[in-house]
Amino acid sequence: MTAPAPVAADKATVYKPSDLIADDIDAYLVAHQHKSLLRFITCGSVDDGKSTLIGRLLYDSKMIFEDQMAALEADSRRVGTQGGAIDFALLVDGLAAEREQGITIDVAYRFFATDKRKFIVADTPGHEQYTRNMVTGASTADAAVILIDARKGVLTQTRRHSYLVKLLGIRHVVLAVNKMDLVGWDQKTFEAIVADYRRFADQIGLKAFTPIPISGLTGANMASRGEDSPWYAGPILMDWLEGVEVEDDLRGQAFRMPVQWVNRPNLDFRGFCGQIAAGTVKPGDRVKSLPSGRQSTVARIVTKPDDLPEAYAGQSVTITLADEIDVSRGDILVAADDPVAVAGQFEATVVWMDDEPLPPGRSYLLKIGTRTVGASVTEIKHRVNVNTLEHLAAKKLELNEIGLVNLSLDQAIPFEPYANNRDLGGFILIDRISNRTVGAGLINFALRRADNIHWQHTDVSKASRAALKGQRGRVVWLTGLSGAGKSTIANLVEKRLHALGRHTYLLDGDNVRHGLNKNLGFTEEDRVENIRRVAEVAKLMVDAGLIVLTAFISPFRAERRLAREILADGEFVEVFVDTPLALAEQRDVKGLYKKARAGQLKNFTGIDSPYEPPQHPELRIDTTKLDPVQAAQRIVAWLEGEIDYEI
Ligand code: ADX
Repeated sequence: MTAPAPVAADKATVYKPSDLIADDIDAYLVAHQHKSLLRFITCGSVDDGKSTLIGRLLYDSKMIFEDQMAALEADSRRVGTQGGAIDFALLVDGLAAEREQGITIDVAYRFFATDKRKFIVADTPGHEQYTRNMVTGASTADAAVILIDARKGVLTQTRRHSYLVKLLGIRHVVLAVNKMDLVGWDQKTFEAIVADYRRFADQIGLKAFTPIPISGLTGANMASRGEDSPWYAGPILMDWLEGVEVEDDLRGQAFRMPVQWVNRPNLDFRGFCGQIAAGTVKPGDRVKSLPSGRQSTVARIVTKPDDLPEAYAGQSVTITLADEIDVSRGDILVAADDPVAVAGQFEATVVWMDDEPLPPGRSYLLKIGTRTVGASVTEIKHRVNVNTLEHLAAKKLELNEIGLVNLSLDQAIPFEPYANNRDLGGFILIDRISNRTVGAGLINFALRRADNIHWQHTDVSKASRAALKGQRGRVVWLTGLSGAGKSTIANLVEKRLHALGRHTYLLDGDNVRHGLNKNLGFTEEDRVENIRRVAEVAKLMVDAGLIVLTAFISPFRAERRLAREILADGEFVEVFVDTPLALAEQRDVKGLYKKARAGQLKNFTGIDSPYEPPQHPELRIDTTKLDPVQAAQRIVAWLEGEIDYEI
């Protein structure tokens, strides 16, 4: 370890990562390519000196270029936080808004390298409202530097950061006790903080950490040993970062590789491409493809120019197999004698990242490794107060909240608990309509109840039940504002179909809320559950061969889409009963709009709860132009095939 380089006076100088660059660029590049990579996260706030710490690391590893250095000097003088001396925090607090507010507001990934190793540091804000940013940064980190201000000791924020670090499975942790210069490098202060932190670490199951006393301001014990702490014999920060072993953790485990792409340029070659998530593999190994369970033997590990004799965790490879077994994108190749489990229901920990809260029952896309499936949270067991670690009851998860949930997928997937393997047990949840990432989660374990429930085959089928009735089962789903006329129209449609000899059933919002859904109110979570249940009941009725009419506000696109998706193609007929709010309110048959306007009725659709109109309904009924009888005729005509398409 060399001492920090002095600031260059020569404006043309580029600060070099290594002298090798000048002497032998090829040798430098080869050496650089073969250096290992450490991804780490820094936790703490600006007050703890986080940005200064990162700035120092970049500076000491000579990764700052001359133009940046000049700007930094100018900025330091202008901002004046360090009395004209260089303020390293300015180097990393890139955004103007952050500087003005004195906070860091996003995840910033910074790259630097020393002669021994390459680094990517994820720098995230420390405040609670940025929990999702920290989770994003920590999810790919192998190590964490948790910063503490020596004058303040272990704070609520330290505990929150440590909990997240532990939750996200970071096993290599430094407790960097910063600003030691401001407490006179007092050994007792340092030791008291470490003892305090150790008690907390035990509580959350964080087994080991390395405490280091540092000063971000002077750089002591960061890139070089400080003179003021002769009592400290442990590693300095840079040595720890350069030396910490992280990769071998995964190599020793059984082989797993999620298939990212099947490369089939011609009929003679079929290669399965992906990044090895755990273990090693070599030609001749028996492997199994999951979820199918088919086995084969590894034939080749193909790379250019030559095949590899062996590949291991972290490498991206193309594998060919000895037999033609069916493997597709999203499947996992695993060691045949040590496979992973396959399941469709889990207990998981979810960090919610969206402004719209998570209601149980809503269907999302779940992306795990290279596979994407439909999923919904069936139950929130509790949420965790990230400051006190208390478990609290919750009906929904709000932005930045962390909850323990049960999760149900629409198909079984191969997986490992996150604690064993992040790639095979970590997932994100995606909104089906906006495609936004709305949550991140970790699989804890598969729910055993899923193993014990199997689909029971019945000999009388949906088709035979419908055939006996001489019809095709379907759902005619009426959606629209309260007072739009859904119930009236649905009733007329049923009467007409009945007269035509059709076998029908009408599920009406108010009626279903008298029985099956009497425990539900009108919050967003309850409406989601209301419509989920109705969709499932309607599906059963279609299975029975019935023509089902539903009359529910069903205000959210996501749940109407769920209803469409759980039915077969053509079975879901969405009818938008389109009445302008002003007209529905003017009619106000039940007097509910009046109550809502008077503030006596909360969460009323159209007033203080949203209605998302259908974008592509099969039928739109404009109630300003058609009376209920005409509307019903239009729907029946469409169903009976007299008109093909009407919008
Ligand atoms: S949904 O939003 O969950 O689909 P649903 O169709 O079951 O609603 O019930 C709507 C009926 O409940 C309305 O027609 C109205 O009579 C009654 N209701 C009572 N409170 C509300 C409310 N806050 N918002 C909307 N409808 C309400």
